[in-house]
Amino acid sequence: MTKISLLSQFDSFPASTLFSWYDTHARSLPWRAISPEMAPAYHVFLSELMLQQTGVTTVIPYFNQFITRWPDIHALAGADDDAVLAAWAGLGYYARARNMLKAARQIVSSYAGSFPETPEDLQKLPGIGPYTAGAIAAIAFARPAIVLDGNIERILVRYAGIDEEVRAVKPALKEIYQHICPEKRRPDFPQALMDVGAGVCQPRRTNCGHCPLRTGCKAATLKDPASLPVRPQKKAKPVRQGAVYIIRNQRGEVLLGKRPDKGLLGGMLTFPSHGWDGSACPEWLADGMSGFHWRKEQFEIRHVFTHFTAIITVYDGKIEPGVKVPDGYSWQLCSPDKLPSLMAKCYQAAQI
Ligand code: ADE
Repeated sequence: MTKISLLSQFDSFPASTLFSWYDTHARSLPWRAISPEMAPAYHVFLSELMLQQTGVTTVIPYFNQFITRWPDIHALAGADDDAVLAAWAGLGYYARARNMLKAARQIVSSYAGSFPETPEDLQKLPGIGPYTAGAIAAIAFARPAIVLDGNIERILVRYAGIDEEVRAVKPALKEIYQHICPEKRRPDFPQALMDVGAGVCQPRRTNCGHCPLRTGCKAATLKDPASLPVRPQKKAKPVRQGAVYIIRNQRGEVLLGKRPDKGLLGGMLTFPSHGWDGSACPEWLADGMSGFHWRKEQFEIRHVFTHFTAIITVYDGKIEPGVKVPDGYSWQLCSPDKLPSLMAKCYQAAQI
């Protein structure tokens, strides 16, 4: 299909029907306002960073906790790094939390705490790519920015009946978005589409009978509307084997350290471990090292990262009194909710 003919398929896109639907069906999400109200930019910023790789249901309690503890950009910029990372524990992709702090500090130091409003300026901040910049500019500042997430892409591909992989038509989808986004209610437009994508036009169930966009939708006329978008061939994820050691002392404390700031689970709490992150077994953890004793747990832990699956053998260990604690580790009482999910799963396995 040529670019022009693709765009022309959206000439009668039913935006006003979409808004009427949104007025009665919008999800009530704590970072949201429905026009003419505007959501505070800080709320949009926080929620969009949290939603980058995490689902709405998981994000809601984290978002609420963050705005209670750090109610504005100045409070967040002044927050203690470790407190923010601990509050982020469980959301995954921890580089996001560190970038969020850097961005908050830059907004305070370079913009006196007022968010930049254009996608171009927003994208200069750490951790803010084209999607997030577009979402903040559109939702917090009603700017004419492109907001294309997986839900919106799926809806547009189905509406026009495009039988190509999404990846192949991304540039066309950007033009389509600009073509159909009305000037009025710019903050609501992408959020209304997201809600249609989440609740109606779902990946495997299209629920066309309930869809405000069914008039003019090509996929709705197909026998199997959910066959679009064409799904890419799935590549098997590589597997990395690893080991995690839950080592306790007589006081019931466990040996915990902090991961290097850069890389997997950067800056987060960690038990002694190796393998899953590509690291070799440290000398002090090698078999037969005097002073440490362990028992292999019966269960292996699987944890899926973006690019690989980690299969972890968990060891429940003890240390003889007087044995020196290895560099970078200390005895701490363990709060599983401060641990990244991989480590929390291992800790739980060692309790069973
Ligand atoms: N995913 C990303 N941004 C979102 C938003 N503002 N509302 C719902 N889901 C989202």
